[in-house]
Amino acid sequence: MTSIRIDFGNLMSPQTEGGVSPDLLRGDMAERFTAAMVDVAAQREAGVLGFLDLPYAADHVAQVKELADGFGQWFEDVVVLGIGGSGLGATSLRDALLGPFWNSRSDEARDHYPRLHVVDNPDPYTLQALLNRVDPARTLFNVISKSGATAETMAQYLVVRDRLDKEVGSDKARGHFLFTTDPENGALRQIGDAEGIPMLPIPSNVGGRFSVLSAVGLLPAAVSGVDIDALLEGAAQMEERCRSTDLASNPAGILASLLHHADTEQGRSVHVLMPYADRLRAVALWFQQLWAESLGKTQRLDGTNKPTGPTPLPALGATDQHSVLQLLMEGPHDKVVLFVDVDDAEADVTIPGRHPEIPALDYLGGHSLAELLTTERRATAEALRREGRPNATIVLPKIDAFALGQLYMLFEVATVIAGTLYGVNPMDQPGVELSKLLTYGLMGREGVAVPEIAEPDPDWVV
Ligand code: PA5
Repeated sequence: MTSIRIDFGNLMSPQTEGGVSPDLLRGDMAERFTAAMVDVAAQREAGVLGFLDLPYAADHVAQVKELADGFGQWFEDVVVLGIGGSGLGATSLRDALLGPFWNSRSDEARDHYPRLHVVDNPDPYTLQALLNRVDPARTLFNVISKSGATAETMAQYLVVRDRLDKEVGSDKARGHFLFTTDPENGALRQIGDAEGIPMLPIPSNVGGRFSVLSAVGLLPAAVSGVDIDALLEGAAQMEERCRSTDLASNPAGILASLLHHADTEQGRSVHVLMPYADRLRAVALWFQQLWAESLGKTQRLDGTNKPTGPTPLPALGATDQHSVLQLLMEGPHDKVVLFVDVDDAEADVTIPGRHPEIPALDYLGGHSLAELLTTERRATAEALRREGRPNATIVLPKIDAFALGQLYMLFEVATVIAGTLYGVNPMDQPGVELSKLLTYGLMGREGVAVPEIAEPDPDWVV
């Protein structure tokens, strides 16, 4: 099984004007990285980086498989209700590993595995449309919330529960739920305990956006027939590679160090993740949450306050060559582009030669779509390099569970190392609390004062 690799040559000088000098990489940057790794080891020792242990959590995996292979297969549709780190993992796994149009395929084409839907936003239009589409009597709702208190997810649960109670009766309705939540605390755990609803734990030291390789991502993947052992083997392999204290051989260290340097020393604070594969589009959204929520902080570990953090920007190649590329090429020098390419596209299609008389079409004939896509990635990387725009390419041998496991772990470890380099805690998210509190107040939650909200001033509404 092959490893993913990172070609970071276009982040280096003199290859790319404005890149990092090899002396810096081997000197100061390597020293800072070594210090960061000491810190990461201490955090691991202190038990706060639970995601690093997930590839080896055999009991956890056995529990997931038992439910996914048994209970989960009684249903035609599985609906995940979860948001942020409780939704993006399942979405990115589904899109990458089940492939396009999974939910529109026939039972045979899905090998009789259930369809998999992920509802994150409490947009009534979407939820109603889904509930009108699935047969509640043949649907499992996997409610995922670490805290068991997230307004969006819990509101959806209440809506769905009410609907099921009415349609199949409250006794049977219980049999249509599976909760994935904190092992001890929260409303979901409380309801699950009281009603005998099957539950899977999210280890208490695994934070939402680091939970894709826990039951949060594993159950939806396994219930759809994904080889979760291969996913975890890939993650384990990357976890081992990322233990290296030699910067040049640590993939997460390279990513974290170069992106942190680009932001803090060169003002390149926008970090674009641009896979050249439709199946990886949602991985870029997953990365966006991981990078933004982990690194965008005011409070620093040294006790000072200073707004800090890069801005991740998800994009898709080649589609966004016709959208953001102009900005990447000629806009401010505030960006680094991380491409993701795939060696083996698996389902390649040859482009037929049909119009020898039209040079604008003739050159395409005989090539393939995969060749076109990867050539566009290479051409775009080169164009950026020539303009002094640093970029790098992460290459997956192919899009399978083993490679995806590596990719998730790579970004997660990079995030923790980057957190240390930025001097922030990548595990918390204090900035999201105020809007939650205001929502509670406005929605009338007991014990929360109704806040005064600045209403729109008609003078300033056009
Ligand atoms: O990364 C995080 O911690 C958040 O994005 C959470 O995943 C998100 O807020 C959902 O939280 P919960 O799983 O508690 O419902």
